[in-house]
Amino acid sequence: MDIDANGLAFISDLVRTRAAIVLEPEKEYLIRARLEPIAKDEGLLSLNDLVSKLRMAPFGALHKRVIDAMTTNETSFFRDVAPFDALKEVILPELMKSRAANKSLNFWCGASSSGQEPYTVAILMREQFPELASWNIKFVATDLSSKMVSRTQEGKYSQLEVNRGMPATLLMKYFTKKGMSWSVNEDLRKIFEFKEMNLIGQWLTFPKLDIVFLRNVLIYFDTETKKQILGKIRQNLSPDGYLFLGGSETTLNLDEAFERVPVSGTSCYRLKK
Ligand SMILES: C[S@@+](CC[C@H](N)C(=O)[O-])C[C@H]1O[C@@H](n2cnc3c(N)ncnc32)[C@H](O)[C@@H]1O
Repeated sequence: MDIDANGLAFISDLVRTRAAIVLEPEKEYLIRARLEPIAKDEGLLSLNDLVSKLRMAPFGALHKRVIDAMTTNETSFFRDVAPFDALKEVILPELMKSRAANKSLNFWCGASSSGQEPYTVAILMREQFPELASWNIKFVATDLSSKMVSRTQEGKYSQLEVNRGMPATLLMKYFTKKGMSWSVNEDLRKIFEFKEMNLIGQWLTFPKLDIVFLRNVLIYFDTETKKQILGKIRQNLSPDGYLFLGGSETTLNLDEAFERVPVSGTSCYRLKK
C-alpha cells in the first residue's frame, strides 16, 4: 500500500507527540506492516488514505488504534530471569523486614504489555513468600495500549506464550487450561488493578511505591522524555524503594538522584540517601 513522505512524517509525528515513541526513518517497513491491516479494516485502498482520514478527524479512536499498532509489545514470563532472582534473593526479603510493622507493599508495573511481567512477580511472591498473603499488597499494572491492558486483565495466554518462560509446575499451579489457551487463576488475577496510563500523560495517583518495574520502554523515548519519566518515578518512589529497568536502560546521566544497586547478577536503582 502506498504511503508518501508526508504520510510517513505525519505518522511519526503522531506517535511521537502522543506516546513519545521515536520512530527512526528506517522504520518505514514497520509503519507499513503495522498500519496496512488497519487501512484494510477501514475499507481504505492506501496508507495515504488512512493518513488523510487521520488528518481530517479530531484525535479519537482511529488515532489511538494507529498509536497502539505502532507500540512494540514484546514480553515474556520471567523475562531476563535475573531481576526476578534479585526480587527473591534480596529485594523482597529486605522490604519485608523494613515493612514488618505495617505489613504493606505497593507495586507498580508500568508498560506491562500483555501482562507476563506483573503475573511473573505475583507468582514469585506466592511461591517464595506465602506469608505475604496476609499483607496489604497493592499491585497496579499499566500500559499505554488499551488492547494490552484488556489482555492483561483477561490473563489469557496461548501455549506459545506460556512456553516462553513459564515453568510447567507453575503453569499447572497458577493457570487453568481453557480450550487452546491458559487462563491465570482468579485468585492471582484479583490482586491487580489494571489501568491504561500514558507515561507522558496524566499519571495515576499512586501510594508511595516500594517496587517499580518499568522495563524495556524507556528505549523508545528521547533523552528529555526519559528524564521527565524518571523525575516522576522519583516523586512516587519510597525513599527505600527499588526501580527495575530493562537490561539496556539506565538512570545514569539522566537522573543523578538514583544510584545503581548491583544485585543477583543484574542492576536495579534506588534513591541516593
Ligand atoms: C517492549 S514492551 C515491554 C513489556 C515489559 N515491560 C517487558 O519488559 O517485558 C513495551 C510496552 O511499552 C508500552 N508503551 C509504549 N509507549 C508508552 C507510553 N508512552 N506510555 C506507556 N506505555 C507505553 C507499549 O504499549 C508496550 O506494551
